[in-house]
Amino acid sequence: MKIISIVGARPQFIKLAGLLHSLEENFSHLVIHTGQHYDDNMSCVFFDELWIPPPAYNLGVGSDTHSKQTAAMMVRLEEALEHESPDGVLVYGDTNSTLAGALTASKMHIPVAHIESGLRSFNRKMPEEINRIVADHVSDLLFAPTPTAMKNLKREGLLRKSFLIGDVMMEGLRKFSPQAELHKCKLLASLGVEEKQFALATIHRAENTDYPEILADILDGLSSIDYPIVFPMHPRTRKRIDEFSLENRVGRNIQIIEPVGYIEMFALEASASVILTDSGGVQKESWALNTPCVTIRDETEWVETVESGANKLSGRTPEGIKEAFLSMLGKRLPPLPDFFMLNPSELIPGIVKRLWG
Ligand code: UD1
Ligand code: UDP
Repeated sequence: MKIISIVGARPQFIKLAGLLHSLEENFSHLVIHTGQHYDDNMSCVFFDELWIPPPAYNLGVGSDTHSKQTAAMMVRLEEALEHESPDGVLVYGDTNSTLAGALTASKMHIPVAHIESGLRSFNRKMPEEINRIVADHVSDLLFAPTPTAMKNLKREGLLRKSFLIGDVMMEGLRKFSPQAELHKCKLLASLGVEEKQFALATIHRAENTDYPEILADILDGLSSIDYPIVFPMHPRTRKRIDEFSLENRVGRNIQIIEPVGYIEMFALEASASVILTDSGGVQKESWALNTPCVTIRDETEWVETVESGANKLSGRTPEGIKEAFLSMLGKRLPPLPDFFMLNPSELIPGIVKRLWG
């Protein structure tokens, strides 16, 4: 069977990396990169570090408004899929690349499987929420990471095509943890921080970065914490800080660095005492790496992380961020739930072969 994975943004390269070996063993497998992320440290580094072969196609769409970016992806994807005529397509997560991949393939009557299906924040102002809902409804197979995601799919009448397969990001963690261990010492020394004596921050969501008052509040919150923070900064956030002239809101406790590769990120997540983030992936990785997490949002799709106490929603006020940080510092985390131990790289190819083979 010929199966194509469509990816385009940082977390999708990481999700693909965890599954890659098994996809290559079970299928004739190709990768299409939409080109949504293109900086070396947002794209190439993951292909190099995580042994992902060069994509068969890089559609080179780059950045634009949602409609222009998604439309450009669809036009170029249609040509590539026409040329390859695969037996099925895999789309990952909730980015515009997910939306374009699911829509294009389904309109061409190519079976689509959505990996990381069923997540809902119930906040339709998030571009990701629209992408998830559309991708789930047009896809033929839905691979859900959590019991809550399965419940959401059931509520929307999609249970018939849904499977609980666990979290593909856990595969990446299992596969690459020995390498992260090796890099830890040197990395921390180069940043001038000590293990469990610093916090790690990442912020990139549109709803946190696109409004000057909200971004200023988040920077104020991080700056008010009397504790060193390492902040690998997403290019979107860096651009917004420049555009809104918020450089003076970055406190002296915050060390901004370029986005890091996955192995370095993994080492930082495991070494930090607390992680402050609005990333989807980082909320789960922190629990898996036994580091308490503060999510700088009002809601999360990863509800199990909050219900268990491994993650706390801080909202976006400076006071909320500081309070949440203090309450999570030194917290003992609960054991990982069973669904994190599932093995998606075995389950996904098995189901795909059985239903599409
Ligand atoms: C996208 C996803 C988001 C995901 C995130 C992962 C959508 C709607 N959003 O957000 O769900 O959590 O990726 O990181 O798909 N930029 C660069 N270099 C790059 C890529 C982006 O400078 O390599 C800058 C550009 O100014 C661009 C901005 O970042 O306009 C936003 O990029 P975009 O891909 O539109 O969305 P992300 O914020 O990265
Ligand atoms: N990540 C990384 N380098 C960074 C920041 C994040 O490798 O500088 C990894 C992180 O460990 C996780 C993934 O990128 O595996 C999450 O991607 P991101 O936060 O961009 O997107 P989201 O998960 O919110 O969609």
